[in-house]
Amino acid sequence: MATHKTPKPKLRSKSQIPTILICVAAIFLLYLLCSIDFSSGFSFFSQKTLGNVKKSKEKRQHTVHEKYLYWGNRIDCPGKHCESCEGLGHQESSLRCALEEAMFLKRVFVMPSRMCINPIHNQKGILHQSKDASAEERWAANSCAMDSLYDIDLISNTVPVILDNSKTWYQILSTSMKLGDRGVAHVEGVSRVDLEESSHYSNLLLINRTASPLSWFMECKDRNNHSAIMLPYSFLPSMAAEKLRNAADKGRGRRRRVEWVLG
Ligand SMILES: *[C@@H]1O[C@H](CO)[C@@H](O)[C@H](O)[C@H]1NC(C)=O
Ligand SMILES: *[C@@H]1O[C@H](CO)[C@@H](O)[C@H](O)[C@H]1NC(C)=O
Repeated sequence: MATHKTPKPKLRSKSQIPTILICVAAIFLLYLLCSIDFSSGFSFFSQKTLGNVKKSKEKRQHTVHEKYLYWGNRIDCPGKHCESCEGLGHQESSLRCALEEAMFLKRVFVMPSRMCINPIHNQKGILHQSKDASAEERWAANSCAMDSLYDIDLISNTVPVILDNSKTWYQILSTSMKLGDRGVAHVEGVSRVDLEESSHYSNLLLINRTASPLSWFMECKDRNNHSAIMLPYSFLPSMAAEKLRNAADKGRGRRRRVEWVLG
């Protein structure tokens, strides 16, 4: 008896290559945007937006009368190299966790001045670096300035921040050193509630929390307590630096136009 076997549906092993290519392209674009000086090269960007930038550029004055929270200078980077850092998604979660703590403690957050963006792809020839560059030089070459990725002033409207390469930070450091134990506490694993409630901590100029180098967001253990979440996931993406927002808007605008033509 002849049986008709229905042919097995062939599993189309969809190649993953397009996804990977898109990722590489996206990261490459992000990298370009972070490294190009738009103000000189692409003046149409700055001209168009000059008006509204000026308005929001009323610089906050941070003084030693405010209190500060420092978590370290590298987000989710246990090693000396960018290769050892976590991806952007992890780092944004971690940064949000740190910003939430600063909000909770009503302190100015001392933000790392550089952030590593996808080290793996950076290694694949996008960046050329000499073998004998020092660890610091390699770090500098592989990372992006924080203020080229995020609009620091815009973030400061919600949580005041300063960068850890700013003059204010150096002043805070030297003041806290002069004050010693009365100015700074180096803490690790102390809960934010304890930091707020204990008068020992709450009066100090600087709290230096040594966050887990592997994942800062581990400090937000109360993540599943919804009332403890102060910033939404969309917070940091919506704080993208001006030129990145403009580039995204241009992209959206173009797509809308295409949709309009097609529709
Ligand atoms: C913060 O604390 C860590 C660990 O105690 C220490 O290595 C680091 O130098 C401190 N940083 C500042 C800015 O005080
Ligand atoms: C949840 O978070 C809120 C706000 O931080 C806090 O008051 C409350 O005690 C927390 N609840 C638990 C069960 O940890």
